[in-house]
Amino acid sequence: MSVLIKGGRIVTAADDYVGDVFVDGERISLLGESLDVTADTVVDATGKLVLPGLVDPHTHLDMPFGGTTTIDDVTSGHTAAAFGGTTCHVDFCIQAHGQTFAEALGDWHAKRDGKAIIDMGFHIAVTDLSEPGRLEELATLPAQGITSYKLFMAYKGALMVDDETLFRTMEVAANTGALVMVHAENGDAIDVLVKEALAAGNTAPHFHALTRPPETEGEATNRAIQLARVAGAPLYVVHVSCKESVEPIQLAREKGWDVWGETCTQYFFVDYSFLERPNFEGAKYVYTPPPRAKENQDVLWNAVRTDTLSAISTDHCAFLWDGQKTLGKDDFSKIPNGGPGLENRLQMIHEFGARTGRISLNRMVELLATNPAKLFGLYPRKGTIAVGSDADIVVFDPEKKVTISAKTQHSKVDYNLYEGTEVTGTPETVLLRGQVLVDGDELVAEPGIGQFVRRAKFGEELRGARVELTA
Ligand code: URP
Ligand code: ZN
Ligand code: ZN
Repeated sequence: MSVLIKGGRIVTAADDYVGDVFVDGERISLLGESLDVTADTVVDATGKLVLPGLVDPHTHLDMPFGGTTTIDDVTSGHTAAAFGGTTCHVDFCIQAHGQTFAEALGDWHAKRDGKAIIDMGFHIAVTDLSEPGRLEELATLPAQGITSYKLFMAYKGALMVDDETLFRTMEVAANTGALVMVHAENGDAIDVLVKEALAAGNTAPHFHALTRPPETEGEATNRAIQLARVAGAPLYVVHVSCKESVEPIQLAREKGWDVWGETCTQYFFVDYSFLERPNFEGAKYVYTPPPRAKENQDVLWNAVRTDTLSAISTDHCAFLWDGQKTLGKDDFSKIPNGGPGLENRLQMIHEFGARTGRISLNRMVELLATNPAKLFGLYPRKGTIAVGSDADIVVFDPEKKVTISAKTQHSKVDYNLYEGTEVTGTPETVLLRGQVLVDGDELVAEPGIGQFVRRAKFGEELRGARVELTA
């Protein structure tokens, strides 16, 4: 099968030109002006943007959490992702206490077997190194294409690890070519604040934010940075939400340390006041870190513009408002933490980032596709439009007006964080490895088409270790 995408404005992290893309099989094989080739399928992209398929480095599909399981499984999550222009993601495989990593990976592979519509990889979330042999097993994972270790510094009594586990994992990463990812919040202090709030009878959703002040995020971010420095491991801080954690990342990067940070779409648009919405509606915005005071939104835009933060993910972790979030009707600490967003990342960042001029189109592509691909060992197969790259391509209509709504979304969740937001610009056609996934309003692909991606070790592409040069 061959596909010719004709006359679109091709935008990558580095380029912006009008041209044609010729796809032969699964890869891009030719780029140029007015290509003189015949193809099985021709897509007229005149007036459209032609973007690399987006890469989401942070999602939670079919994940048991907070006494329930996220509502989007691999198929519904991938459908939402595909309509949003995301063609590859890296999900969290969570090690249950006592489990080997092989057992955890077996469980997570079973969730995707025959169900995947886009390509995906796994980060391993380390929760328990207490059994003999775990550190040694952890060291074998990068060679299997699992090249990032995730640690939760919060969620005490559930996913949280102590500093010894964090530090030992960092030491392994320093030797195996894995990138360490941290959920940076001080889980011990938060646990005390939550107990105190409940004892005082403060049970409403907005106490979720009041018991997780930004300083607890800043402290943990700084602690992780300093420990990673001692261990010699590269560090990626997930879902940065506020000035208190942007600042230590900025400082570390100014010093040239191997530290990167990500924020998520929702932190630009949802602020603390959403948690105070009446009739338990505030529960829709109970995710962690919580929505912050509005002034943090400008801090985050500035951070993504200046490369203090290098990626925007969704942290898609969807729970029904009616039936799952309501588990915490009388106690905010029992509201499952997480929010949806896999489908709307490109629409929202294009509208409020690129169209307003806060960031360029090139930077938008870099934040949503190229940098996640580079940091997580997927580049240049994913994250760009280049000869030899996978033909993961989004033909994006920059003029089409859409009103975002739960009524028209593809996720199974019963609300949308951006309900009623009007955007101009939306994906029109989405290809995965040369096959059309989305054609207008229609999902063309069948579950099973998505593949598992074995990722390269950290820095192999970034530092050129895989690039062969000849005279
Ligand atoms: O509230 C959130 N973010 N839920 C997902 C788990 C995590 O902390 O990323
Ligand atoms: Zn987290
Ligand atoms: Zn998450």
